[in-house]
Amino acid sequence: MSFRYYYADRIREKMPEFKGTDEELQKSIDDISLSYNSAIRELETRLGNISDDFDKQHSYMPIHHVQSRLKSFDSLMEKAFRYGIEDPINNLDTVKREILDIAGIRVVCNYEEDISTMSKLLLSQEDIEMIRVKDYCDKPKESGYRSLHVVVAVPVYLVNRKKMVPVEIQFQSIVMNAWASLEHELRYKNKGELSQEIVDTLKACAEDLHRIDEEMSRVRHEVLDDGNEYSEI
Ligand code: GTP
Ligand code: MG
Repeated sequence: MSFRYYYADRIREKMPEFKGTDEELQKSIDDISLSYNSAIRELETRLGNISDDFDKQHSYMPIHHVQSRLKSFDSLMEKAFRYGIEDPINNLDTVKREILDIAGIRVVCNYEEDISTMSKLLLSQEDIEMIRVKDYCDKPKESGYRSLHVVVAVPVYLVNRKKMVPVEIQFQSIVMNAWASLEHELRYKNKGELSQEIVDTLKACAEDLHRIDEEMSRVRHEVLDDGNEYSEI
């Protein structure tokens, strides 16, 4: 993952309404960068450890790859406005309380069944708190988007304090990730505006891909002849 730091002079230029000094602004945004980057690093380590141990026990790695990001300060402020938080730059504590995806991790698993394996193994760790689950695998979004979103709070140990920091984890299969990446790219390229016909086509693609995901999983078990031995984890 790449660390992202927020810079007071850049933020001050865009948001001159901040009431404190430059030093105070830098201090409060450093606190965000440090806490959320550390939380991402903590979770990436835990996910890697689980995957390695799983490989030792079952000769199989459920995770294909992991991507992480710290939300840019601009999109954090934009989302805060959208959520109705007044004067967010002067109310960063409210922003941190209300916006749960400042830190985001996308865990791309090989098959759909690996999503529940990985999420259950992570959530079974005793010091991880579950804050919210949105299961778009069970109930896809109107667009056709599928994924399991879990917001957890993870302990981060700093010099003389421990903080519980929220992180949004998106668990997806490779196939779900392929659709979401392409759809996002198309939407972004077109400034968020897609015709109803395109939206319908993309939704149909998502449904076709879901069938392919299930079929690939069936083939996998046939090839490995292992039943669904991890589903009880
Ligand atoms: P927002 O982040 O403001 O959207 O609110 P939220 O966190 O409550 O929404 P949600 O649970 O829908 O998760 C949002 C994230 O999921 C987005 O940032 C995307 O990464 C992903 N996502 C949700 N819907 C779609 C979709 O239709 N297409 C794609 N490509 N990604 C989606
Ligand atoms: Mg989000």
